Amino acid sequence: MIDAIKKRVEEKLSGHQKRLTHVFGVYETAVKLAEIHHVNIEKVSIAALFHDFAKYDEIEDQVMHMDLKTIKQYAEYPVIYHAMAAAIALEHEFHVRDQEILNGIRYHVWGRPNMSDLEKIIFISDSCEPNRNFSDSEMIFEMATKDLNQATEYCMKISIDHVIAKGINPSPEQMESYHYYKEVNRGEIK
Ligand SMILES: [Fe+2]
Ligand SMILES: [Fe+2]
Repeated sequence: MIDAIKKRVEEKLSGHQKRLTHVFGVYETAVKLAEIHHVNIEKVSIAALFHDFAKYDEIEDQVMHMDLKTIKQYAEYPVIYHAMAAAIALEHEFHVRDQEILNGIRYHVWGRPNMSDLEKIIFISDSCEPNRNFSDSEMIFEMATKDLNQATEYCMKISIDHVIAKGINPSPEQMESYHYYKEVNRGEIK
């Protein structure tokens, strides 16, 4: 299964070498974190390899199998479509029905409240894989080896700051997820 998925992703992103390098960086980082935190390696691998599968599809293709409600819900934040579309493609092409894998892909952009460890690992690895030119990616990885919730909050903060710096308002869902993990790390949510 993993080899078939690797092959499919390589083929799909063959014109996008940088993205492919990123995807394999996420994959390696996520597997390391999964080993440390005793999360299923195969499931993490599938989610990591497939998370940006639909990144370069036309928006019309990304939303093709989505219901109108979802399309409208994210019309202001079309970046989310590539995540939703990748989950749909994995289900269609590889018959993956495991909701944890699919959610790891669906929520890799903003995260969401109450994620499983697998989802957190994909979310964090997307920010801190070594090919991302974040100066603090090593520090984030170190943090994630010790505490996934702390690293999740940290990555959410970076992502929100990044969006604001570009003059875009963070989405309500993104803010909600961030506040959720702030509360978790303050011990207010168990
Ligand atoms: Fe992505
Ligand atoms: Fe990514």
